[in-house]
Amino acid sequence: MSTDSLPDRAEFVVVANRLPVDRAEGDGEWRRSPGGLVTALEPVMKRADGAWVGWAGKPDLELEPFDFEGTHLVPITLTADDVELYYEGFSNDTIWPLYHDVIAAPRYRRVWWEAYVSVNQRFAEAAAAVVAEGGTVWVQDYQLQLVPKMVRELRPDVTIGYFHHIPFPAYGLYSQLPWRRQVLEGLLGADVIGFQRVADAGNFARAVRRQLRYDTKASGITVPVPGGGTRTALAKAFPISIDAESYAEIARRPEVQARAREIREGLGNPRKILLGVDRLDYTKGIRHRMKAFGELLEDGRLDVSDVTLVQVASPSRERVEAYAQLRDEIELTVGRINGTFDSVGHTAIRYLHHGYPREEMVALFLAADVMLVTALRDGMNLVAKEYLAARLDNRGVLVLSEFAGAADELGSALLINPHDIGGLKDTIMRAIEMPGAEQGRRMRSLRRRVFEHDVDAWSRSFLAALDQARTRAEATA
Ligand code: G6P
Repeated sequence: MSTDSLPDRAEFVVVANRLPVDRAEGDGEWRRSPGGLVTALEPVMKRADGAWVGWAGKPDLELEPFDFEGTHLVPITLTADDVELYYEGFSNDTIWPLYHDVIAAPRYRRVWWEAYVSVNQRFAEAAAAVVAEGGTVWVQDYQLQLVPKMVRELRPDVTIGYFHHIPFPAYGLYSQLPWRRQVLEGLLGADVIGFQRVADAGNFARAVRRQLRYDTKASGITVPVPGGGTRTALAKAFPISIDAESYAEIARRPEVQARAREIREGLGNPRKILLGVDRLDYTKGIRHRMKAFGELLEDGRLDVSDVTLVQVASPSRERVEAYAQLRDEIELTVGRINGTFDSVGHTAIRYLHHGYPREEMVALFLAADVMLVTALRDGMNLVAKEYLAARLDNRGVLVLSEFAGAADELGSALLINPHDIGGLKDTIMRAIEMPGAEQGRRMRSLRRRVFEHDVDAWSRSFLAALDQARTRAEATA
């Protein structure tokens, strides 16, 4: 459709912390941004005449709504204070560590909470203003947990979905949150609340029972309606995925395959390449992976002329203390391991503190014999699925943490407990030495899963649940 035919009001509105675009440094042009969430929703937005409410990623940017590739974008301004208190503070220094099982200590600051409430209100008002009568609002992720209830208060006519991309913690941890009731009530404003794993939905239902005393039956939660009566909110697992075919398509391109060979040559043609690709985040277990790899070199079970670890760690949330600290630790570790084991012609760890375009990522996936996903806690981990989608030749081994949501679906990977360094070392060796036939058996079954349950299947099943919720609500109205 042409962009000038977009209506003022949209039937389908996504609300996410970030807009799906970035402004390029040089020419100032908007480009579709590469992140997992954006990639996940891209096909949905293409299908619907949608609007997307979000932040453009820089403080104090005041922008009018504009149309981009058939989507109406509604930018939300965050001041420098909002970025510090709502984004870096409450979202990424309170909720993020708390929901990832307190791997880093969450900080509970009242001024952060106040900013979170007021910024959530701003997103909700923008969504309420742009959604058409009887339309659908789909809220994304932990930065916006209060938005479902706020939108419902402003626009009781719309159907509201919420998808939680990160884990929802066990009740014993969740109950630390000083605002635990308000957050649950915020989420329960949605008709459908989606989680990555069955366990996340279970943790949420338990928190609702304990804190709010609402009844839960199977996936349904009975929520009282102001003014009397009840309604049912559905809290259920909808594991997210990727556009698998688009990764396979890139992997088939001759220039990407040539680039994969070039990468191998650039590393001195080692017999095996291990790969890690993560945002530089303490939840990803990058230190555990490096510890295991360093010990294998030290033990003499691996040799630097034979095996290289490529670690892409893309910069993330750099002004949050825990992230700055992690970067120092990782870079110290890389320096020590490389200083000890590198030879003039070979490096132990090729550490890259950058983000890369998708084509370069696929070339890396094609070059890598073993993919290491050693997260200590991860909502899903889409990188694991991207690696599988790119492996056209049905070779390669995925080493996958059982603490990543993806482990629930990808049972044919080599599953590990990243805290068990001895076990991780043995599994890395097993991956390196795995015969081709076994690689093929596992890879075929893993790829089948990823292609059958792609992002399209994910969004369809979520939106179907939302449609059913709408029908139910209309029947009882
Ligand atoms: C995770 C979250 C997303 C977030 C992304 C990047 O995947 O679930 O909501 O957008 O990390 O983090 P950032 O803070 O840069 O948006």
